[in-house]
Amino acid sequence: MPIDAPLVCSLIGAGGHAGVVADALWQNNPLTQLTVHDDNSALIGRTFLGLSPITSPVNPNDLHESCHIAIGSNRIRKIWSERLLDSNHKLLTVKHPKAAISPMAVIDDGCFIAALSVVSVNARLGKSVIVNHCAVVDHDCQIGDYAHIAPHATLGGGVHIGQNTLVGAGAVVLPQCHVGRDVVIGAGAVVIGNVPDGVVAKGVPARWDLS
Ligand SMILES: CC(C)(COP(=O)(O)OP(=O)(O)OC[C@H]1O[C@@H](n2cnc3c(N)ncnc32)[C@H](O)[C@@H]1OP(=O)(O)O)[C@@H](O)C(=O)NCCC(=O)NCCS
Repeated sequence: MPIDAPLVCSLIGAGGHAGVVADALWQNNPLTQLTVHDDNSALIGRTFLGLSPITSPVNPNDLHESCHIAIGSNRIRKIWSERLLDSNHKLLTVKHPKAAISPMAVIDDGCFIAALSVVSVNARLGKSVIVNHCAVVDHDCQIGDYAHIAPHATLGGGVHIGQNTLVGAGAVVLPQCHVGRDVVIGAGAVVIGNVPDGVVAKGVPARWDLS
């Protein structure tokens, strides 16, 4: 069906991840109109992808009602999500048209689901979760708010990932494992059991230091 109505949205963040999100928005709807906002004052006077001016600092009063927090850092994405929800903005979930997403997955507001990723049946994504390029979130996984599943990471069926956790690029989490909140799983790690809150787990099999 042809698209004849523009989507109007404000992006918070003007870095590399924001470019990936903008690309997905334009691929869904070439008429998408974006305003782009970033607190990095070094970006004042620059353009976003050579197309849009960047507004800095971010002022919630300047934003459209519909926003997407396009910031890779889980901590900063969380701060902005809470701030914008407090000021009655709507956090738009952005799904690349080439992501494979089950209609039986449950996806909260503000998520980004990148090209060639898979979000399978009965998976549940919390607020502002990133499922990055080629990542696999298999059936019945539960992903906490503000988590990031990095490119080519693979979560087996029934995996739980806690809030704010980063699963690094190419990491594998075996089926049914529970990973805590505020965890970093190193790139390429293989997680073979449960991981407690707040640790950095890396290697094959993944190990962490509790001190
Ligand atoms: C695991 C990780 C968090 C460690 O970061 P760090 O604390 O800054 O670690 P350092 O680079 O100082 O390295 C510390 C040690 O861990 C090792 N190491 C680092 N990353 C590793 C990894 N992914 N797997 C195994 N070992 C790793 C280093 O070789 C070093 O070993 P040494 O003490 O024997 O010399 C980080 O390397 C990583 O993998 N982050 C994930 C990044 C990612 O995938 N981002 C997605 C963006 S889209």
